[in-house]
Amino acid sequence: MPDRVTLTDSRSGKVIELPLLHGTHGPPVFDMGRLYRELGYFTYDPGFLSTASCHSAVTFIDGEEGVLLYRGYPIEQLAEHSSFYEVAYLLMNEALPTQAQLDNFTTLISQHTMINESLKNFYRGFNHDAHPMAIMVGVVGSLSAFYHDSTDIHNPAHREIAALRMIAKMPTIAAASYKHSIGEPFVYPRNSYSYAGNLLHMMFSVPSEEYELDPVAEKALDLIFVLHADHEQNASTSTVRLAGSSGANPFACIASGIAALWGPAHGGANEAVLRMLEEIGDVSNIPTYIARAKDKDDGFRLMGFGHRIYKNYDPRARIIRNMCHEVLSELGNENDPLFELALRLEEVALNDDYFVSRKLYPNVDFYSGLIYRALGIPINMYTVMFAIARTVGWAAHWKEMIGEPQQRIGRPRQLYDGPAHRDYVAIEKRS
Ligand code: SDX
Repeated sequence: MPDRVTLTDSRSGKVIELPLLHGTHGPPVFDMGRLYRELGYFTYDPGFLSTASCHSAVTFIDGEEGVLLYRGYPIEQLAEHSSFYEVAYLLMNEALPTQAQLDNFTTLISQHTMINESLKNFYRGFNHDAHPMAIMVGVVGSLSAFYHDSTDIHNPAHREIAALRMIAKMPTIAAASYKHSIGEPFVYPRNSYSYAGNLLHMMFSVPSEEYELDPVAEKALDLIFVLHADHEQNASTSTVRLAGSSGANPFACIASGIAALWGPAHGGANEAVLRMLEEIGDVSNIPTYIARAKDKDDGFRLMGFGHRIYKNYDPRARIIRNMCHEVLSELGNENDPLFELALRLEEVALNDDYFVSRKLYPNVDFYSGLIYRALGIPINMYTVMFAIARTVGWAAHWKEMIGEPQQRIGRPRQLYDGPAHRDYVAIEKRS
């Protein structure tokens, strides 16, 4: 197998050979590091369509085949046999845990689920109608003010405890943002619950009544967290890596990931899908919205459809779609009109050449909101759910990057097409 790529510069006649690097799966990459030094050129790839920003052993995606592997394990097998705690351990530690390792990891996480009492004061600064993602960005970013004892990122022990604290506290911070929005008292975590169970408990229990956790809801949420835990170098994970490359503390890096995830083109799509389904309202309106999605002059997009990598069905969407039937019927929502509408919308789109020719399939966000809705989670909390799960992936990638011996600050270049050099003109001489 050739291990290099030869570039010929037609302007100078120079020829350089760039080493070809091969991974475990996926296309080889050629190392462009010498390009500027030897040819005086930058590469140009807005949106990173053909650019590998790093090497990583965490997650592999094959977009053409619809394959997703966490540390080599297929998402379908993890969805069927694993749990969020076990997947979190796998992503953070490169291998599936033994029972003793899993028990220890679970105990460690549960010992950090509470937040500093003074952190609660932050919530009072937000109006009740503040979007929970805005609260999450602010509160998570402020955690670095409370944990000076674990921000030496070059100390592996500090990296580990910071990652564990982040994973442990996200549900507590998220549930508090929900309680603040409905004016109810915050509920302390209870470590006898599972990760997903604790979140449901902190969101939906009230001091005046006994709380009975619904095992169907707990299992559904745990599976959704497994499916959302990581996804290679997506926009928010790349944001966390870039923020981390400057040496910023891990809490600030995770806050930057939350901010990037919020966009409707990324994690904000799950909320946008439900709002879109509510706007479409009835199957009779589907043709109008399909036409709008195809109209370049109309800003409307079919939310939950399309993906930069998957040019096949998103394997996570397939799992959630199948889960919908089971969960909705077990939770008594089997006749949710929005689920029927989503199924019909998918059927129409997947038979329309516009979507087929562009390989636009449902992605992870197309069905997830219907499960959240059946669990009684309000629509503005959907992306918060995504952020809770993805904190594991962000932490795993942050740890991997910081642990790199050759780790350097990320500093992309540009193609400058602004004004040419010009001299300052005194204001009285300007026209
Ligand atoms: C996530 O990266 C990840 O891994 C992300 C994620 C993760 O786990 O981290 O998987 C989570 O973010 C999933 C994606 C959620 N976003 C949405 O569902 C929003 C709707 N989808 C699109 O905005 C879009 O498909 C993106 C943002 C997901 C992908 O954008 P790309 O790869 O830049 O594709 P593009 O915008 O260049 O579109 C290519 C063509 C265009 O038409 P032409 O110019 O070729 O005529 O497809 C069209 C687009 O107009 N198109 C759509 C469309 N998505 C793409 N047209 C209508 N509806 C859509 N949803």
